Amino acid sequence: MKRRQILTLSALALALPYRSLFAQAHHGMQHRNMDMSGHHSGSNSGLLALGALPHGERLRPLEKLQNESTQAGRFTARLSAQTQGIKLAKPYVSQMYTYNGNAPGPLIEVYEGDTVDILFYNQLPEATTVHWHGLPVPPDQDGNPQDPVAPGEQRHYRFTLPEGSAGTYWYHPHPHGQTAMQVARGLAGTLIVHSRTDPLAEMPEQHWMISDLRLDEQAQIPPNTMLDWMNGREGQFILINGQYQPSTSLAPNTRLRIWNSCSARYLRLQVDGCQWVLLGTDGGLLESARPPSDELLLVPGQRVEALLISEQDRATTLRALYYDRHKMMVEERPQDYVLAHVQVPKQGNNFVPARLRDTIHLGQPTAKKKVTFSEMDMSHDDHDMSMSMLQSMFMINGKVYNMDRIDLQSKLGEVELWQVFNDSHMDHPFHLHGTQFIVTEREQAGQRLTEPYPAWRDTINLQPYETVYFLVKQDQPGIRMFHCHILEHEDLGMMANLLVS
Ligand code: C2O
Ligand code: CU
Ligand code: CU
Repeated sequence: MKRRQILTLSALALALPYRSLFAQAHHGMQHRNMDMSGHHSGSNSGLLALGALPHGERLRPLEKLQNESTQAGRFTARLSAQTQGIKLAKPYVSQMYTYNGNAPGPLIEVYEGDTVDILFYNQLPEATTVHWHGLPVPPDQDGNPQDPVAPGEQRHYRFTLPEGSAGTYWYHPHPHGQTAMQVARGLAGTLIVHSRTDPLAEMPEQHWMISDLRLDEQAQIPPNTMLDWMNGREGQFILINGQYQPSTSLAPNTRLRIWNSCSARYLRLQVDGCQWVLLGTDGGLLESARPPSDELLLVPGQRVEALLISEQDRATTLRALYYDRHKMMVEERPQDYVLAHVQVPKQGNNFVPARLRDTIHLGQPTAKKKVTFSEMDMSHDDHDMSMSMLQSMFMINGKVYNMDRIDLQSKLGEVELWQVFNDSHMDHPFHLHGTQFIVTEREQAGQRLTEPYPAWRDTINLQPYETVYFLVKQDQPGIRMFHCHILEHEDLGMMANLLVS
């Protein structure tokens, strides 16, 4: 952080269009003028006022993608990426990127064993792909940046979901260098794989897809500023299922599935007077429910299944508490956000079965991988910050992403121990494609801690100078990406290719 202050705001001003710098500076000021209700009380330059979006409306369930197949075990549907004007704040029409006209995109609900065939149509003015975040789909069906779908083109995404893949996933674009802006414009959707032997099948479900959105004074989506590229973009509106501060009530024993599909925002979720009981992570249920906790941290890309418990019926508030992820060049004032108003019934967790699934394990590793996230050391550097500097700033194993370079290789089916080190002053969420891994240990400041419980994950946070160890196995040949899931960092090259063969 100190080191970064060498990049003074005046250096930044040279590289930034005046207007966006102005908007950024005022955005910072607004934070100091926020009152308890979470609304801006100060003036609002450059950005749409928080009060301009309807709030307090009933939370709507996610729109579902219709299965056009009548055959058992098949899911056939059409998905198109298209520009769409959406009335978010009257009288404006916000121009967004959508899947089938919706932001967020439709929920895809499938079962283990299903064969999925999605006819994708790119109606955007630019190339895109559809990446199935967390799913074990073949690499050539996974929307890699090497497989762009040109504007006006169609293609099928086809895959069969193996047994054991039940979990909470999502899909989003992954084109080379354009992921962050396409997601910022609205492209992302949810996907759930159900199991036919789900021990919690009786629990009602509620889905909270949390994203954020930045709107300017005309309710349009502005491009990234230099600070967005550096720290990841955070919109002033935090949305659930596309709605701002909605209200919802939970039926007794509701199984919540929660997605953090923000580009960069860390969500430290808390519900006043209630506790979370964690039931599952990215790749499905835990072996057993975790003891109750007050907070749930979801970093960008992560998902959970959870239960809220309360000693009495409550009308309460879902908040995102301040999380310091050590942004560069930004003096942050701790700030909590109201995400939703929630009615929680009096309920405990004693109805949850003691065992939720078979053992989560992968066996002994027979190979090792070392991955280091780093940032260019600019302590001796006094140039002005520019886009080209940013494009060489975020690295994996000392290199910026090159689509055509193979960075690491793994053998098909071999269990590996990965050691991922964050050699930087800032948090970065690590994500690996095509499979789920099991974190075994974490190490920070010379302290090595055994992970308290096994869980299937595809995204894990790395605090500054933290090392995370995990076990992993890739079961399909081809190229997989691993990267920072702050989408701006991914686009700037904090990504690498793993060849599985
Ligand atoms: Cu959701 Cu390559 O990522
Ligand atoms: Cu992914
Ligand atoms: Cu990052």
